[in-house]
Amino acid sequence: MSEAGSGATLLEVRDLSVRFRTRDGVVQAVSNLSYTLRRGETLGIVGESGSGKSVSNLATMGLLNRSYTDITGEILFEGTDVLKLRQEQMRRIRGKDIAMIFQDPFASLHPMYRVGKQLAEAVLAHEDVSRDAAWNRAVELLEAVGIPNARARARDYPHQFSGGMRQRVMIAMALVHNPDVLIADEPTTALDVTVQAQILELIDRVKREFDCGVILITHDLGVVAETASHVLVMYAGRPMEYGPAQEIFTGAQHPYTWGLLESMPTVEKRLEILVPIEGSPPSLLHPPSGCPFHPRCKYRFEPCDGERPPLFRLPDGHLDACYLPPERKRELWTKRIGAELGVT
Ligand SMILES: Nc1ncnc2c1ncn2[C@@H]1O[C@H](COP(=O)(O)OP(=O)(O)OP(=O)(O)O)[C@@H](O)[C@H]1O
Ligand SMILES: [Mg+2]
Repeated sequence: MSEAGSGATLLEVRDLSVRFRTRDGVVQAVSNLSYTLRRGETLGIVGESGSGKSVSNLATMGLLNRSYTDITGEILFEGTDVLKLRQEQMRRIRGKDIAMIFQDPFASLHPMYRVGKQLAEAVLAHEDVSRDAAWNRAVELLEAVGIPNARARARDYPHQFSGGMRQRVMIAMALVHNPDVLIADEPTTALDVTVQAQILELIDRVKREFDCGVILITHDLGVVAETASHVLVMYAGRPMEYGPAQEIFTGAQHPYTWGLLESMPTVEKRLEILVPIEGSPPSLLHPPSGCPFHPRCKYRFEPCDGERPPLFRLPDGHLDACYLPPERKRELWTKRIGAELGVT
């Protein structure tokens, strides 16, 4: 885990809420979300399907259709609120200063063009260089992301690459303009386990070599365990727990985070039984009252279905949205979750 808080602030999300107006009603996809990303850091955003991880980052990329989407709050990129930019200005930032890679690298590569050409075109989109120079840059980028024999491979088509190699190509594509922020949305979900580890290692290496900040989105806490400096746990569009990765992995506070830790495939060998969280996330058309996790929470008590819990700040600086008294959490962590994980 890297040292926290060392680099300059790149991205500051403040009280972000996103609502979709749909035929069935208003979907409250993201509510009151705040976080900060600094240069050199990796922020892991973790939560089950539908928790608002992608939507909040699509807002940062300016990729939500504003005609039926209401966005409130601020997303400051190097001090500028990207939510206030005109499309034209946003287009200049997107792909250049803030780049994103997705789960399915096939979806973002054109099947009919050589990989090198697609990279070269991406270079030419924002830079006034010759075609030869753009091609050479494409080859360099393929080398940088660990494609063996890059000069020859640049002439291949996407289908000639394996899944892991295609994801490397997508990372190269994201790095074309040396972005300040790299957002990786479930970059390893479609890959098998050994390849997953290589891609995560690559993302960590490019973060250092390209000196950017990384947002790593995943449903699996295990994925961010090795590389994240900070972790944000989301549920039903809300922040549940947020803080330095070290604090989360050695002293998680929220029962939802405990559930994610207990269902982490990477600790399977150490835990006797892998325990999935029972039940499923709520509808965002009709979210439950109080803490959105309370219907599934083993530790719920009187206040949980009443007022929504605020984010409580702990002495170590990390935030959590749970009413359980700190002593009770400490006790539960020490006796159960932390003990099972071997980190108390
Ligand atoms: N365009 C849209 N219109 C209406 N609802 C939407 C739209 N896009 C997303 N949603 C809803 O917003 C919620 C959050 O979705 P989001 O894609 O951010 O979840 P996620 O955490 O990325 O999940 P996953 O792990 O499955 O990718 C979901 O309930 C989703 O159905
Ligand atoms: Mg998603």
